[in-house]
Amino acid sequence: MIRDARMQPFPEMSGIVSECAKGRASIQHVTVDAEAGRTASYVYGEFRAPSPAGTYVTLRITDDIGKPRVMMSDLHYERVTCFEVVERAHGDVLIAGLGLGMILHPILGKQEVRSVTVIEKYSEVVELISPTLPYDPRLTIVNDDIFTWRPPSGSRYDVIWFDIWPDFEVTRLSEMARLHRKFGRYLNRDNANRWMESWHRKETKRLAPKQVPDSSPAVTLNE
Ligand SMILES: C[S@@+](CC[C@H](N)C(=O)[O-])C[C@H]1O[C@@H](n2cnc3c(N)ncnc32)[C@H](O)[C@@H]1O
Repeated sequence: MIRDARMQPFPEMSGIVSECAKGRASIQHVTVDAEAGRTASYVYGEFRAPSPAGTYVTLRITDDIGKPRVMMSDLHYERVTCFEVVERAHGDVLIAGLGLGMILHPILGKQEVRSVTVIEKYSEVVELISPTLPYDPRLTIVNDDIFTWRPPSGSRYDVIWFDIWPDFEVTRLSEMARLHRKFGRYLNRDNANRWMESWHRKETKRLAPKQVPDSSPAVTLNE
């Protein structure tokens, strides 16, 4: 779902997250002009949601095989692809991937959100980003891997959002399917508005449908 970036609910992250580094994780501020902001939104042959000239924040992580990747930024393409989870968030929310904590600011601003549990694989990301978040007793951040973490017994979530990928390669679809299969049982079946989704899953399926057969079960609601 691509929406008008001017309507986006996210704060200017450069005013919230300073440049810093710890172990495998680092935060940089990047100043882009209009052309760079346009080029940075090039996705599958289209310029989507160009960012206006300005200063943006990037989170870079060296992964388990020693490869440094930009995992997250607040460029406008990232912002528009995170609209939907903010709109859908209510009740008990489970999020995989802390990143810059960008989506947490508007999500914690919603009164209809009862709790937010964030699972983040890298302790350095938790250490760098946690202090930048508003104190909120509804928020719990867990340092763990979403592929191995299990919710506490009896847990049910109204909204589940997986956002752990640095890119939108079609090969990610099988990981998404795995997570949807594992966590579908933790959705609150009594809530007609329950929702579970992975970042950029629908767009990846639509834009590259023939490259990888998708075996994900139909556990995503409200498509
Ligand atoms: C794209 S960022 C998330 C962006 C975030 N939603 C935000 O609002 O800024 C992806 C995050 O997922 C984390 N991550 C990657 N693999 C993970 C895994 N297996 N389990 C939990 N977190 C993971 C990365 O360390 C990174 O912080």
